[in-house]
Amino acid sequence: MSPLSGKTYWLVGASSGIGEALASQLAAQGHFVIASARSGESLAQLALTQPSRIKAVPCDVTQPESLAQAALRIQELTDFLDGMIFCAGTCEYEDRLDFDVDAYQRVMNVNFFGVVRCLALAKPLLQKAQDSPQLLVVSSLSTLLPLPRNEIYGASKAALDYFVEALRVDTSLTRLQITLAKPGFVATPLTAHNDFAMPFIMQPEAAAARVLKAFIAKRARVVFPRRLWLLLQLASFFKPLWLRYVAPRITRIKKW
Ligand SMILES: NC(=O)c1ccc[n+]([C@@H]2O[C@H](COP(=O)([O-])OP(=O)(O)OC[C@H]3O[C@@H](n4cnc5c(N)ncnc54)[C@H](OP(=O)(O)O)[C@@H]3O)[C@@H](O)[C@H]2O)c1
Repeated sequence: MSPLSGKTYWLVGASSGIGEALASQLAAQGHFVIASARSGESLAQLALTQPSRIKAVPCDVTQPESLAQAALRIQELTDFLDGMIFCAGTCEYEDRLDFDVDAYQRVMNVNFFGVVRCLALAKPLLQKAQDSPQLLVVSSLSTLLPLPRNEIYGASKAALDYFVEALRVDTSLTRLQITLAKPGFVATPLTAHNDFAMPFIMQPEAAAARVLKAFIAKRARVVFPRRLWLLLQLASFFKPLWLRYVAPRITRIKKW
């Protein structure tokens, strides 16, 4: 049994950024959070902030053995999960169009296959949830529109979006509740080295609060900030114009 009366969540990607803020906010609301990521030290620091409500279970979602170890540790902490939150992510850019397959594999391995691996591990525990089990997956607003240098990251998140929506179809007769979160720019280690304008950038705590509200309300989707979402939707509606007039101004590739 989990040690608290609140809900029990496994949060993957809890060592920094949006995931770390989400873990803190969930714990502050009285829930029990099993916090995972590779950086054991950052997770341990996080767990110290609310020791009875956050437990660190380090793992690497690209490594099946590491996940198997994590599964054993999770089973020591709880015999059920009320929800799994997948917030882990990595980003690499396609700078020269040299199609480095390793880069594509690295990003897909975390952003897409990571979710699949973690779901396989969590499913038996989610099936024993106290109420309706929940899945929260963090994707990105960037999938709304083709963006420069975004072949790698954008493709991984687009694959993730499709996976989640197909999963929604195939679980529509079950109790599983799925929330797909699509943030815009958030000031985290993931975006710290971006050398381009990031309009309407948010702090991780504010982004986590938006995600958490939707998750607790069991909403199917949450997109934010609305201003960026609206701009991207509008541009996507006029995609031929975007490709013809805007793309040549924003790409850095001058020759193929
Ligand atoms: N920041 C943005 O502007 C933005 C916008 C849209 C969507 N997102 C998405 O939001 C999510 C959170 O990103 P963030 O911005 O908060 O970035 P972040 O601070 O870099 O967080 C990424 C998290 O993923 C974990 N992670 C990375 N590789 C992992 C692996 N192999 N195994 C286990 N955990 C791993 C990291 O921990 P370790 O390094 O310790 O493993 C960290 O906890 C990501 O899915 C990202 O794509 C971010």
